[in-house]
Amino acid sequence: MLADHGPPKNNHSLSEHSYTMKSLRLQLRFLLPLVLLLVIAAYVTVPLVDKLTLRWFLRDLDVRSALIAENMTNTIVETPEVPSQRQLQSEFNRAIRDERIFAIGLCNADNKLTNSTAAFPQRLDCTQAREAAAQSPAIVTLPRGDVHVTVVPLTLPNLKDGRLVVLHDLSYIHLRSADTRRYLIMLFVALGCGMALITVLVAHISWRGWVAGTKALLRGEGLLEPFRPPPELQVVATDLREMLREMDEERRSRMHQEDWTPERLRQLLNTDMRGEQVIVVSNREPYIHFKREEGLEVQRPASGLVTAIEPVMRACSGTWIAHGSGSGDRESVDHNDRVMVPPDDPSYTLRRVWLTEEEEQGYYFGFANEGMWPLCHLAHVRPVFRLSDWEHYKAINQRFADAVVKEARTEDPIVLVQDYHFALLPDLLRARLPNATIITFWHIPWPNPESFGVCPWHEEILKGLLGSSILGFHTRQHSRNFLESVDRFLEARIRMEESTVSFANDLTQVNAYPISIHWPSIEESSQWPSVQDCRSDLRRMLGVSEDHLVAVGIDRFDYTKGIIERFHAVDRLLQKHSELKRRFTFVQFAAPTRSSLDEYQLFVQQVHTLTDRINARHGDSSWQPIRLIAEHQNSDEVTRHYRGTDCCVVTSLHDGMNLVAKEFVAARDDGHGTLVLSQFAGAARELNTALIVNPYDVEETADALYRGLTMSRAEQAERMRSLRTMVREDNVYRWAAHMLLDAARLRRAERVSARIVSREARTA
Ligand code: G6P
Repeated sequence: MLADHGPPKNNHSLSEHSYTMKSLRLQLRFLLPLVLLLVIAAYVTVPLVDKLTLRWFLRDLDVRSALIAENMTNTIVETPEVPSQRQLQSEFNRAIRDERIFAIGLCNADNKLTNSTAAFPQRLDCTQAREAAAQSPAIVTLPRGDVHVTVVPLTLPNLKDGRLVVLHDLSYIHLRSADTRRYLIMLFVALGCGMALITVLVAHISWRGWVAGTKALLRGEGLLEPFRPPPELQVVATDLREMLREMDEERRSRMHQEDWTPERLRQLLNTDMRGEQVIVVSNREPYIHFKREEGLEVQRPASGLVTAIEPVMRACSGTWIAHGSGSGDRESVDHNDRVMVPPDDPSYTLRRVWLTEEEEQGYYFGFANEGMWPLCHLAHVRPVFRLSDWEHYKAINQRFADAVVKEARTEDPIVLVQDYHFALLPDLLRARLPNATIITFWHIPWPNPESFGVCPWHEEILKGLLGSSILGFHTRQHSRNFLESVDRFLEARIRMEESTVSFANDLTQVNAYPISIHWPSIEESSQWPSVQDCRSDLRRMLGVSEDHLVAVGIDRFDYTKGIIERFHAVDRLLQKHSELKRRFTFVQFAAPTRSSLDEYQLFVQQVHTLTDRINARHGDSSWQPIRLIAEHQNSDEVTRHYRGTDCCVVTSLHDGMNLVAKEFVAARDDGHGTLVLSQFAGAARELNTALIVNPYDVEETADALYRGLTMSRAEQAERMRSLRTMVREDNVYRWAAHMLLDAARLRRAERVSARIVSREARTA
């Protein structure tokens, strides 16, 4: 079993260093003998080839001399007269026009030199020439250099048994030999370089393969299928499997432990993550400062994302990087654009990133909210994709990546990337902080591949997200849609059973992590006003009696929330149950959102028109069935509304999770109240004892609303008990712990792999 002894922070870069060292050593092992072999080969071969070529050249000279003699004989014999001394001399001079011939001489039968060209050396007589020619090699050294001597018989009409002495200049042969030697050496060097290059490449590829194999094994790839590691990995494979299995079991048992609280999450960070730095990145900031006449006002925005992540950040400390969108945001930060929050109990850092109006328009309103939001929500609103918006989106993702790098105190922080505003960020971060654990959570649904494919930049978005170590969705269906989209559009390796994607050498674990809320402690809930007071407040606000039935909807004013559909259901309810007239009111709290967009303005108008129409149809001067309150509610007010209502209505047309449903359940510590919940909200998977409806089915929704308003206290209590158990246990700390434990597992596996690799490198 391989023990984990807590490596240094920059373990990954150490392992990279070890890979390089090991690879270098491997290559040197091959290269040194190779170089030695080549030197020996060159040492032996070069003189040998030198000798051979000299022999070939000399043989060539003998043949050339014989040819000269033959030529001369033929020319002279063809002459009718006996050759004169002049004729002979001119033949000799003609022959030495060939610059390789140094001199020619003619010896008679008595070994006397009778004719010669000017350069013929005086100190070489015919006898010496014959002796020299008989040697091997037939070379004579003269003051001006070496000459090769050939003596060939020459018989002329007036000369019997003559001998022609041909002296060849050897300097050109020496030159050629030197050339040959040089080419030969060059050939050896080129050969050596070529072989070295091939060796380095082969060693590099096989080492990378080995490392990749080890890493894959450590990450647990192939654990669920018969996996045959390469022979050199078989030794460690069993140990690794064992280790991963133990880690999995431990993780599973810890996940199922009863209570996940802020303290336990903090503990987990200190033990499993060794207190690593946690950085959250989201577009929406958890606290917005607004400039008012009386000074700065702080607001918590209406955002499911903020609702979920904020308590996690309180527990983990760390840094939250977000867009500073409030009119008073710049006034409240320090010179590093940081401010400690929450204002009443500072426990983590909010680092603000600034955008110009144009950038916000392109990246946030344009690409994120006119493109990605309708693309991912099946709410029948067409997505709009503009190139200029996309350019802003890319630039802002890059700006946030820079901010993360700046905020990171270590090489391997845990970065929690939030939502569809930052699809490109994980990959940008992976490039800058290769050792970071990047956990990306997609808070909205992921559509099927056909729908997703309409985005012109679908490949870039997928590649961007695959920079994550862990990619989380609310439901299995959304993760499956994502994996199918990857399968459709990228050349990636997908393991459906293990829910992992290998792309560009990175492994991403794609899982469903249903998000949740902070479960209020007894101290917190004891601060709440009583249910009775909340009921009275709400009814007083509506101007109705204590026994008046009230249902509430609390949403952002968004077309995905099914507000129109629930109003139709109220309309139908009153048609079917006229006895409820003046005895029931539906209150819709709708927080203004993204109001500069046409689609939202249109929607707000439609909702107002519909409200008026239904109120006109059923209401009178003393009673309106629908009260539309299009204002932001702070969290205390929201809690009071949850506690004061008889029924909470969530009819989203498509929703990642919907935390209103869970918050309502958490607020009802009296054990009463009913929940009508859309089957298209992720929350319906868990909260299945709510009254689940298809919001497009007006009859069904109207009936559920009626049931919710008229349900017996006993049934309410029974359903609420099961809902509360569910939300209390699967709270947001469990959600965060689940992802962090998965991340810890990945990090540990990476570290063990780094250690194995460096150990191998040491022993290699
Ligand atoms: C959804 C998104 C969040 C967003 C919230 C509020 O819940 O998933 O990312 O923060 O809506 O929208 P807004 O555009 O105001 O941030």
